[in-house]
Amino acid sequence: MAPAPDWPLPRVFAHRCGGALAPENSASGLRIAAALGMRAVEFDVMLSADGSPWLIHDETLERTTNGRGRVCATPDAVLRNLDAGSYRHRAFAGEPLPTLEAAAALCRELGLMANVEIKPASGFEAITGEVVARRVIELWSGVQLPLVSSFSELALETARHAAPQLPLGCLWVRPPADWRARLDALAAFSLHCAADKLDDSLLCAARAAGIPVLCYTVNDQSVAEALFRRGVASVFSDRIDVPGRSEK
Ligand code: G3P
Ligand code: MG
Repeated sequence: MAPAPDWPLPRVFAHRCGGALAPENSASGLRIAAALGMRAVEFDVMLSADGSPWLIHDETLERTTNGRGRVCATPDAVLRNLDAGSYRHRAFAGEPLPTLEAAAALCRELGLMANVEIKPASGFEAITGEVVARRVIELWSGVQLPLVSSFSELALETARHAAPQLPLGCLWVRPPADWRARLDALAAFSLHCAADKLDDSLLCAARAAGIPVLCYTVNDQSVAEALFRRGVASVFSDRIDVPGRSEK
């Protein structure tokens, strides 16, 4: 397996595009993150019934849109007309769900680096990894590729196969004991995990191996600073309004 490509990590990623300041996984979130001076954003990508990649976190539409049912059973023509903003605030009424294509174009326009989290619906892990990897390579052609992560190792395997040059991140809530072997098998660049599940022996081993550790979801600045002191490279945060969060 080829060595993992390098990736210019920021200290903080705006979680789900704009953190708590916008509908999650939205174009408004990307614009707000850029306006606040964030260098990088994280967002979740899932396939529609037509096999197209869209930005959305949940497998179902109810929590964040005015639609109903599973994303993987909903055609593009329906997703295109949903209101994915009102659930957050009426100021965002009519905010559409972004396609991966729209999000890529906006990241490029705004100069944002991205962590694309492959979020497959259950049963669609392999195809989601493959489609997202292929589209990422096309959509970010000529600029810094996104860091692509997933909780699904199957999705990461098919992403790696489809795009050998892609920087990958293995995402776990709590990393398993054999995290290093799994990460190496994917030639992954980074390890991502829940901030409160991190232990110092893992951090020490990752640091010795030159593997960056990224933690979610860190909304308290003093917790972020403590993690950085312990050797964590980056955090994902909903609180991008906190002073000191932007790096531009
Ligand atoms: O990628 C980090 C984080 O986004 C993982 O959790 O559920 O917010 O996608 P979730
Ligand atoms: Mg995510």
